[in-house]
Amino acid sequence: MSQASISIRPAQEDDVAAACALVRRSIAELCTADHHNMRAVVDGLLINKTQDNMKAWITTPGSFVYVAEAGPVLAGVGGLTGDGEISLLYVAPDFRFQGVSKALLATLEDKARSLGLPNCALVSTDTAQRFFEARGYAGYDTDEDDFGMDATSMTKAL
Ligand SMILES: CC(C)(COP(=O)(O)OP(=O)(O)OC[C@H]1O[C@@H](n2cnc3c(N)ncnc32)[C@H](O)[C@@H]1OP(=O)(O)O)[C@@H](O)C(=O)NCCC(=O)NCCS
Repeated sequence: MSQASISIRPAQEDDVAAACALVRRSIAELCTADHHNMRAVVDGLLINKTQDNMKAWITTPGSFVYVAEAGPVLAGVGGLTGDGEISLLYVAPDFRFQGVSKALLATLEDKARSLGLPNCALVSTDTAQRFFEARGYAGYDTDEDDFGMDATSMTKAL
């Protein structure tokens, strides 16, 4: 698939509704290898993906959220906590496999480096595990989360 022409910028409060909707669609439509379209599991995954939480992630000092845009359209959302956890990495279904997650992850890792952090860590979906492995992340633990889904902790030295 061809690469989309995207630009990345820090998210702003105005982005809350669109970013939240994008994350929810990405989980519902793309993470089927995790939730197998089981309504209760999808609902569990979405439970903290609310506009209130997105607003807090975007506006809290020390929390870093970026959006990828293709022209005026939001194509992806990525987040980093101040201690190096990749907290969000979601692509809009219409922009899948066009370089959006790669570009967002590179931006988050650059931000972590600029904070002097030695590592980035994350908990991967099964859907994204191959993607993260290809970007240098290694899994060290797979647990079942509260909704019965595999959640693999992964880390990468920066
Ligand atoms: C898998 C996913 C993360 C890839 O992101 P993307 O923005 O669609 O794709 P990108 O173009 O940035 O990355 C392409 C890379 O994905 C990986 N990839 C390709 N096909 C894949 C597939 N079917 N499944 C998983 N990974 C795949 C490869 O590493 C590829 O890299 P390459 O082009 O160098 O071979 C994304 O499509 C997805 O499913 N996201 C769902 C949300 C999610 O699970 N987020 C992680 C939360 S922890």
